[in-house]
Amino acid sequence: MIVAIDGPSGAGKSTVAKAVAKKIGFSCLDTGAMYRSIAYLACKEGISLDDEAALTKLAQSVDISFGHVEGDPIPRSVFINGEDVTTAIRTAQIDKAVSPVSATPGVREALLECQRRIGHAGDYVVEGRDIGTVVFPDAEVKVFLTASDEERAHRRVRQNADRGIGSIDYEEVLADIRRRDTVDSSRACAPLKQAEDAIHMDTTALYIEEVIEQICALARGEA
Ligand code: DC
Repeated sequence: MIVAIDGPSGAGKSTVAKAVAKKIGFSCLDTGAMYRSIAYLACKEGISLDDEAALTKLAQSVDISFGHVEGDPIPRSVFINGEDVTTAIRTAQIDKAVSPVSATPGVREALLECQRRIGHAGDYVVEGRDIGTVVFPDAEVKVFLTASDEERAHRRVRQNADRGIGSIDYEEVLADIRRRDTVDSSRACAPLKQAEDAIHMDTTALYIEEVIEQICALARGEA
């Protein structure tokens, strides 16, 4: 079974996806981390972010994997070609580089295959931008999470401060969130948009626990 959670940056997808997966005993797949890993490697290898052919070749040839602590189905780390990039993919540099990388059709095609292979291997909560529309259009549960731009920027600043990585300047983070929303929603290939059969939840004024409970109820067929 697939629970698809889509929405813009900072809407609470990661927190919600992990908590839901834990409660209903599913694994969890963060597809944004996969795009971030490709962006990280492209920057490291000096690949130009407008070189579609080189980015595509990179995405087709890399090995992305997730590290688990024994007994916990929620991944704790991300590896690309064996290198632990868990924190390296969360910097402001990667926040910027990931937009052109994720707008590259060849990159999306390569990761799509990989995401489907992982998701079909078990019960997964999958979070991203195009999970309910493109990657798993037949997902049993589809949720589209949103929140106001300002609330999302506040959350991202708090998260970056807790992690000790990324910008903690509210105005900079707000501008970056708006920039990424525009790029993610206007790209030609698999843009960020709500699937017709997805349930929309605005998390601006909702307690995260309420959102988690509602999605768990949907997954259990109780709602
Ligand atoms: O969820 P995130 O902020 O970590 O995602 C990083 C970037 O990857 C984001 O700018 C949009 C892109 N992305 C995407 O295009 N499709 C997905 N399924 C997941 C993320």
